[in-house]
Amino acid sequence: METKFLLILLLAFIMISGSFSARFTFQNKCPYTVWPGILNNPNVPTFPSTGFKLQNGASQSFDVQGWAGRFWARTGCTNNGRLTCATADCASGQAACNGAGAVPPASLVEMTLNGGANRNTDFYDISLVDGFNLPLSVTPQGAGSGCKSSSCVANVNSVCPAELSVKGSDGKTIACKSACLALNKPQYCCTGQFGKPETCPPTNYSKIFKDACPQAYSYAYDDRTSTFTCPTGANYLITFCP
Ligand SMILES: *[C@@H]1O[C@H](CO)[C@@H](O)[C@H](O)[C@H]1NC(C)=O
Repeated sequence: METKFLLILLLAFIMISGSFSARFTFQNKCPYTVWPGILNNPNVPTFPSTGFKLQNGASQSFDVQGWAGRFWARTGCTNNGRLTCATADCASGQAACNGAGAVPPASLVEMTLNGGANRNTDFYDISLVDGFNLPLSVTPQGAGSGCKSSSCVANVNSVCPAELSVKGSDGKTIACKSACLALNKPQYCCTGQFGKPETCPPTNYSKIFKDACPQAYSYAYDDRTSTFTCPTGANYLITFCP
């Protein structure tokens, strides 16, 4: 009798509180180790990790409820007492980024759980607005398996123009800066008189990113086709080098 009552109470609580937690699984399909970084948006529940090591072929999962923030992956990391990474470093000196974001260029997954007016829609996108360092994808799973995956599969580094290129010690392009970062002009950053969607059209540089990864944001006012939604309740697979 009492157990039944408690069960009903628990169910009611779950229904009122809105949702079970979402599971994020990070999968590394790159032929090298990456170090995922996680940055929390302000005033939302805290993600269980701010950064960790993920060997090639490995995956790791975390559960969180009502979260919003961004994911990326650091590459070319070495640890001589301090962790330093050739791309997308968060400059924390360690696996945990502790509230620091990626130093651009970095390919990003942006995520908002329980968004929209009724708090029942998840929003997600891939952004190359801060440049590109590696291919990645976000794929809804479980209850969200009918929702669309968003990916940037192409290696933008191989089509990166010299003026945007970040080179590794071997002279190969390891990341590709946004035109805003590399050239710092209002028309590339959508600032000043270019600070509106109507006055900041795609540029020859943003088109390089858009042609390579049509589903990803290529500049600040990229069209709305880059945002994806899924009813809240889905789990998400984040794949590096899908
Ligand atoms: C893009 O356009 C600018 C200005 O017209 C030009 O200087 C630059 O070389 C172009 N870059 C590419 C990659 O087409």
